[in-house]
Amino acid sequence: MKVFTVVGARPQFIKAAVLSRAFLAHNIEEVLVHTGQHYDNDMSDVFFSELSIPQPSYNLAVGGGTHGQNTGRMLEKLEELMVVEKPDWVLVYGDTDSTLAGALAAAKLYIPIAHIEAGLRSFNRRMPEEINRVLTDHVSSLLFSPTQVAEENLLNERIAAEKIHVVGDVMYDATIFYLDRAKKPSWFDVEGFEVNNFILCTVHRAENTDSEIRIRNILSGLGCSQLPVILPMHPRTRKKLESLSILIPDCVRVVSPVGYLEMNWLEANCRLIATDSGGVQKEAYFHKKYCVTMRNETEWVELVEKGVNILVGDSAERIKEAINSSDTYDFSEFIYGQGDTASKIINVLFANTQ
Ligand code: UD1
Ligand code: UDP
Repeated sequence: MKVFTVVGARPQFIKAAVLSRAFLAHNIEEVLVHTGQHYDNDMSDVFFSELSIPQPSYNLAVGGGTHGQNTGRMLEKLEELMVVEKPDWVLVYGDTDSTLAGALAAAKLYIPIAHIEAGLRSFNRRMPEEINRVLTDHVSSLLFSPTQVAEENLLNERIAAEKIHVVGDVMYDATIFYLDRAKKPSWFDVEGFEVNNFILCTVHRAENTDSEIRIRNILSGLGCSQLPVILPMHPRTRKKLESLSILIPDCVRVVSPVGYLEMNWLEANCRLIATDSGGVQKEAYFHKKYCVTMRNETEWVELVEKGVNILVGDSAERIKEAINSSDTYDFSEFIYGQGDTASKIINVLFANTQ
């Protein structure tokens, strides 16, 4: 079996680390293609070296453009490579522009597509990710969903039940595998931070960073934290704050994006997490940390239903209230599988390959 994997953005490298290792173990040939959507060292290279991801066979160096530019340029280059490589499967992850480009290129060449993280929905079509995930799901032959909720979303869109496989969450496989390699950042003690006595925060969503009002509100809410806030800042957010000359509140310590092993350590050792990231919301749950989600809706609705994740939008008042909460939360029942998602995916791929 030959699998052509398309990755391009930070969370996809982490997911691919899990699957690439499993492909190697099963002697499955993988052509790993990096679209170049994320290209800074701390947004890309660090994950390949730290997580021992095989160097990509190709790097398309497409990044930094608009959605249309990125998707179009990737599509053209991916099509050329798929024609040459003739894979049995094209594998795409999540909901980025790289995901959609990979799926579209494959669909038009009649190459079957396997979509990991299928069926997630925010039901907000103004999110670029929602367009990417809906379109990708509808051209995929195998849809790997992390939860029953995701499966139901696909069934509601009349996607055939036999294409859908609920396999748990590949990010949980990653959390388990790398947990004992989690790394305390070198600056943590030097700067006087204390374990379980800080808030970990990430913000990068277009809906937050592209709106001056929302990003100002979010920073103002974070500025009311009683605990220090550590904020590894996505380049998109950094550029926006610089262009608007927005000042960072005193209690917020901005650092460069950290590698996955340091991120895991921070997640495991913080008091709680405030984020607009999809992946970080789940990792908060894996580490049994309360998550304050600075969005109006989430794809991970089961976490909100369980009471371990609260949606606060961009309301400074609600952010302030939630991050200063000292309540305790119930993390007893687990909902994202057993950490064996990669092997489940591989079994389904084998069963569906001629
Ligand atoms: C993308 C995904 C989003 C995902 C996120 C993960 C889409 C539509 N969005 O958002 O779903 O949650 O990745 O982090 O695909 N930039 C750099 N250096 C980099 C990467 C980005 O400077 O290494 C800056 C560039 O100015 C770029 C901007 O960030 O134009 C946005 O990057 P882009 O990949 O388009 O979107 P993200 O916000 O990263
Ligand atoms: N992450 C990281 N370093 C950081 C911020 C995030 O390694 O500075 C990891 C995080 O642990 C998670 C993934 O990146 O595994 C989430 O990516 P991101 O928030 O960029 O995208 P999303 O999940 O929202 O698509």
